[in-house]
Amino acid sequence: MKIIQTSDFKYLNEIIYLYVEAFSTGQSQQHIDLESLNQYIKLIMKEGYAHIAFENEKITGTVLLCPLILDKDLPLEISKKFNIKKCIYVAEIMVTENARGKGIGKRLLEEFFKNVDKKRFTYAFIRVWDQNIPAISLYKKMGFTYLTSIVQTKMNVDQSGTFDMHKIYLHKKIN
Ligand SMILES: CC(C)(COP(=O)(O)OP(=O)(O)OC[C@H]1O[C@@H](n2cnc3c(N)ncnc32)[C@H](O)[C@@H]1OP(=O)(O)O)[C@@H](O)C(=O)NCCC(=O)NCCS
Repeated sequence: MKIIQTSDFKYLNEIIYLYVEAFSTGQSQQHIDLESLNQYIKLIMKEGYAHIAFENEKITGTVLLCPLILDKDLPLEISKKFNIKKCIYVAEIMVTENARGKGIGKRLLEEFFKNVDKKRFTYAFIRVWDQNIPAISLYKKMGFTYLTSIVQTKMNVDQSGTFDMHKIYLHKKIN
């Protein structure tokens, strides 16, 4: 497996593909507005960066990082307690469906912690749906611990209405 660190916009379409594959099907399926998603991923790549995993030149997963300040849903509880300017946000992590369970997610996070700018950032944060057992298990294994929770309103995949998702924030000290 090869893992690169990049902010190159040439990977935008493949990152978007991974995102749509991960979040428009399965348990957490929801409507995804492609234009907004495109803007969102561009913002992350402009203000932050990605680690991308490849197997035989094919992308198998990615983790997207950006300053925590970009999280528009950040609870006051966190912004009051931490020096937000020194916090980095694991905005997204996704592994292509047929490559899950092979250690790629773990390798991506290890790569992130190995290479993160430790002079600039002292804490890493992550937000996850409280029913996402694979993701929560991975984050706990990597040493993230629970901080607080929020409720987000999402659009049904067929746009027929909305539903609530309970999300939890986890954090880990960078050292
Ligand atoms: C969450 C995700 C990135 C994990 O990536 P992955 O490459 O499959 O995870 P790994 O193989 O590196 O697993 C590492 C650890 O995570 C945990 N884990 C992974 N999948 C799991 C599962 N299905 N059930 C329980 N624990 C799981 C285990 O502790 C595992 O360690 P182990 O193999 O030693 O038991 C992947 O499932 C994914 O892309 N999901 C869809 C997108 C998503 O939900 N992203 C997170 C949004 S916050």
